[in-house]
Amino acid sequence: MRKTHALWFLAAALVTGSFPLLAEQAPDALPLATVANEPLLVSADMREGTELSGTWHYSIDPYRAGIAGFHGEAPDRGQQRWLDIDVRKTMAEDNRTMFEFDMAHAQTTSLPGSWLAATPEMRHYQGVVWYQRHFDAPAGRKGRYFLRFGAANYATTAYLNGKPLGRHEGGFTPFAFEVTQQLRDGDNQITFAVDSQATATTVPPTVTDWENYGGATRGIRLVHTPATYVDNAMVRLTTDGKLEAEAHLDGAAAAGQSLHLTIAGLKLDVPGKSDAKGNWKATIPAPRSLVRWSPDNPKLYDVTISAGEDVWRDRIGFRTIERKGADILLNGKPIFLRGISMHEEEIGPNPARIITPEAATALLGEIKNGLHGNYVRLSHYPHSEVMTRAADRLGLLVWSEVPVYWMVAWSNPGTLAAARNMLAENILRDRNRASVVIWSVANETPVNDARNAFLRTLIGDVRRLDPSRLVSAALLVKREEDARVPTMTMADPLAADLDILSINTYNGWYTPDRLSDLPASVWHVPADRPLVFSEFGADAKSGFHSPERLQKFSEEFQAEYYRKTLEMADRVPTLRGMSPWILKDFRSPRRQNPDFQMGWNRKGLISETGQRKMAFDVLANYYTMKSKETPK
Ligand code: GCU
Repeated sequence: MRKTHALWFLAAALVTGSFPLLAEQAPDALPLATVANEPLLVSADMREGTELSGTWHYSIDPYRAGIAGFHGEAPDRGQQRWLDIDVRKTMAEDNRTMFEFDMAHAQTTSLPGSWLAATPEMRHYQGVVWYQRHFDAPAGRKGRYFLRFGAANYATTAYLNGKPLGRHEGGFTPFAFEVTQQLRDGDNQITFAVDSQATATTVPPTVTDWENYGGATRGIRLVHTPATYVDNAMVRLTTDGKLEAEAHLDGAAAAGQSLHLTIAGLKLDVPGKSDAKGNWKATIPAPRSLVRWSPDNPKLYDVTISAGEDVWRDRIGFRTIERKGADILLNGKPIFLRGISMHEEEIGPNPARIITPEAATALLGEIKNGLHGNYVRLSHYPHSEVMTRAADRLGLLVWSEVPVYWMVAWSNPGTLAAARNMLAENILRDRNRASVVIWSVANETPVNDARNAFLRTLIGDVRRLDPSRLVSAALLVKREEDARVPTMTMADPLAADLDILSINTYNGWYTPDRLSDLPASVWHVPADRPLVFSEFGADAKSGFHSPERLQKFSEEFQAEYYRKTLEMADRVPTLRGMSPWILKDFRSPRRQNPDFQMGWNRKGLISETGQRKMAFDVLANYYTMKSKETPK
C-alpha cells in the first residue's frame, strides 16, 4: 500500500471519526487502513487473467445488517454474508444455527452493470447490495493473483473464501486486492458489498444532476502476474523531443532487475536496471521515425517493458500538449477543441452504465463522425478505461475529471483524502492515454477559502503526478445585474492556478435572456490563458416541435439557442474550445417535468435512444467550418 494515501485516510478517519457509511464494521471485517491503493496494475486490461464478469448472486441489505448490528456492533454470524459455508446444508444439519441470508440461493444478475437496471424494484435503490459467485482457481498456480475491479459505485468491501480482502472508496476508478495466498485449488467463493449511498462527505456528495448508478459497473477479473512484475509504468513524448519512461516493479526480485523497454514499431530497445526500490527511469531522444498521435492521425505503438519473467504491455500514442499564452498547442501547433460533454451512459432506453467497446465506439463515433469533433469532456467522473482506450483509437482529445461537484465537504479531511485518492487512481490509470490532455479537478464549486484550499491541493497533486498535461476546472462567472447585454466577469481566484480557464454558461436557458441578445454578450476574462466553454446547452424533448413560438424544450428552441451561442462564442478572442452540454439525454433524478423530462436531462443533441435533434446539425456544421479554419 502506498503510504501517502493510507496516511491521508487514517488521518482523516482519526480527525473526523467519520467514514461514509461503513464505519461500524464487523471486528473481523476490514481494518479501514487497508483501503486498496496498491497494487495499481497499470494496463491490467492487457494482462492475462480470468474474466469474472457474468452471473452473480445478489442480495440487498438496506439496513446494512451485514455491516453492523443494530447497536453498531459487529454483525452477528447470522448476518455475515461472506461466510464460506453452505447455508442450507448447515441449517439442515444443525437446528441451533440460523442465517438470515443465503447468497448461494439469492436471485442473480449479470455483472458488470448497475443494479438500477436489474429489476423494476431496484430502479431507485440506493444503499448496500451484496454479490457472490464461485469460480475455479487454476491448479498448479505460479506467480501472483489479483482480484481487480474496473470500478464499483461507491464503497466496496470484498472477501474471498470468507476472509476479508480490503475496502475501496470511490465509484469510478479501478482497485485490486492481492489474493495469491487466499486462493485455493478448485472452488473459490467471492463475496463483496457495494454501498452506493452518497452522503454530505462523499465525492460526489448527495446532490448531483446525474443518476447514481450503484453497483459493480465495470469488469471484474482475476489478473495473473509473475512473482515480480511491473506494477506501474509510463512512457511519453516530451516537448523537447525526448521519450521519457519510468517503471515500478513489485516483488521479491524488484531491486536491481534488468529490463528492456521495447517499441518494435520504432525499432527501439532500451536496456535498463531497476534501483533498490524497484524503480527505473530513462530519457532517450525520440526516433525521427516517430509518428505523433493526433485526432487526424491516432497512431498507437505497441510498447513493452520486459523485466525478469514479466512483460508489461500497452498501446500508446506519443504527442505533446501544452499551453502558450492563450493558445493550446497539440504537437506544437495551435488547436481549437471542437468538443461535446458526455456522461458514462450507453445509448438505450434503460441504461445500466455498461460501457462495452461497442457502446464506447457508438458514443464517440457520433462525436468524431457525426459532429466532426476532435474533443470530448468525459464528465463528471473518470469514465471506463474502455472509453479512454476508444478515444485513443478513434482520435478524440479527452478532458478527464474527478467528481468534485457542486457542494463538497471542503473542510472534511476524509473527503479531501477520498478526492485525492480518486484523482491519483485516475491519473495513474490513464497517464499513458494519448487522448487524455486535460485533468479537471472540479465542477461548478462555490468560491470560499476552504474550497480554494481543497482544490489547490488537488491541483498540486496533478502537477506532481503528471506535469505533462494541462489542469483545469469548470468554473462559474459573475453576471453583471443591470448591464444592457449579458455581461459576465471571471472573478474566481482559482482561475490563476489553472492552465485552461473553463466556464459553464447557460444564458438563455436558466436565464430569461432573449436568444437574440446572446451574440452581444460581453466576457471579462483573463487574456493570458486559453478559454474553453466547458458547458452550455438547452433541453429539447426529441420530437417536440414549436416552429412558431420556439417554446423551451422544443427542438427549434434548442437549435436556435445553439446558433446564437455559437455566434457569441465566435466573438470571444481567447476562446480555444468548447464542450457543449451534452451529447446524449441522460438520467437525472432532478428532472421531473412530466411532459418533457420524466427523469431525464434533455440537453442531449441526441435522445437517450440515439435520435438526433435539430441542434445536432447546427453544431456539426459549425465544427465542419471550424475544422477548415486554422486556429486563431
Ligand atoms: C450544470 C452541471 C451539469 C448539469 C447541467 C444542467 O452545469 O455541471 O452537471 O447537468 O448544468 O443543468 O443540465
